Amino acid sequence: MAQQKTILKALAGETQEVPPIWMMRQAGRYLPEYRATRAQAGDFLSLCYNPELAAEVTLQPIRRYGFDASILFADILLIPQALGADLWFVTGEGPRLSTITSMEGVDALRPVGEIDATLSPIYETVKILASELPKETTLIGFAGAPWTVATYMIAGRGTPDQGPAHLLKNENPAAFDALMAKITQATIEYLAAQIEAGAEVVKLFDSWAGSLKGADFQRYALQPAKEIITALKAQYPNTPVIAFPREAGAGYIGFAKATGADCLAIDNSISAEWAAENLQTDGCVQGNLASKHMVTGGDKLVSETKRICKALKNGPHIFNLGHGITPDADPDNVQRMIDAVREG
Ligand code: CP3
Repeated sequence: MAQQKTILKALAGETQEVPPIWMMRQAGRYLPEYRATRAQAGDFLSLCYNPELAAEVTLQPIRRYGFDASILFADILLIPQALGADLWFVTGEGPRLSTITSMEGVDALRPVGEIDATLSPIYETVKILASELPKETTLIGFAGAPWTVATYMIAGRGTPDQGPAHLLKNENPAAFDALMAKITQATIEYLAAQIEAGAEVVKLFDSWAGSLKGADFQRYALQPAKEIITALKAQYPNTPVIAFPREAGAGYIGFAKATGADCLAIDNSISAEWAAENLQTDGCVQGNLASKHMVTGGDKLVSETKRICKALKNGPHIFNLGHGITPDADPDNVQRMIDAVREG
């Protein structure tokens, strides 16, 4: 039965005439109904921890556009918070966290076994969604990959070059490795609990994988993804995993095979034609449309959408953006993109 869903077919390696579609950050500030619900919740974190309202914003883009997948509404920075970091969001700027710069800081974090005390509302959101989503819509759970989560925990904020995390990695590798190990274990627990609650697919977001080069990429992007996916597959062999080592470039080649991921999400720094040749041979590929087209629209949006579909039409493909949709996007452009994909 479940295999009838178009997203699950693509993840199982099936080539389909029309690729299924969803969009990173599809529940977000570009939608007036999201802004209204967020205002009702008070702020972003209150929305994340309110199961009814988090489920509501997750469902909004499904109602409006009929996407083939819905992604749980939450954030990758809830894991640091569950481990004991302070977390808050500064409007117009982004996340802020207490920083970790030493082994003492890592040791002061809570045990992995205690994360559910903070994260149980998220599992509640998943349960609500599992019962309320249309039967053809796939429910995707997610977490940040350890490197990306560590960059925020170390710097206390988003950074252009992940400098503070690179510094700790190079100057105090014992503390850095201990932090990575802790996040890895917490991520396995968190994703397993999402699957138990009803997530049908899980996705690992490694937004800053591109700043890891050579052996560092293998050690801190590929290895942790492999460890997480191996642990999940041992318990849930039928739950597909999507990996997103953003801006990995040549590092994308072989990443799915090496980690056990069922699908590679790709950013827009590589071409769809290159992805067809070098990545889709190993399985499903998702992504690639530059988010800016959701702002600028027009003929270019339609022609780029069709070009990506054409390049990836001979293998398993899920249509998506190369990164999240931005708050200045026009909701009508999303419909134009969907129409362009579905009319072929
Ligand atoms: O994709 C979805 O719709 C699901 C929900 C989701 C959010 N964040 C909601 C969110 C997901 C999957 C994420 C992942 C996430 N969060 C990542 C990885 C993906 C990526 O974008 O690279 C990262 C790095 C974060 C951390 C984070 N959360 C940042 C840096 C910010 C601030 C930047 C911004 O866009 O404002 C957030 C906030 C955030 N997470 C928002 C949403 C909808 C905006 C918050 C708001 O409503 O004010």
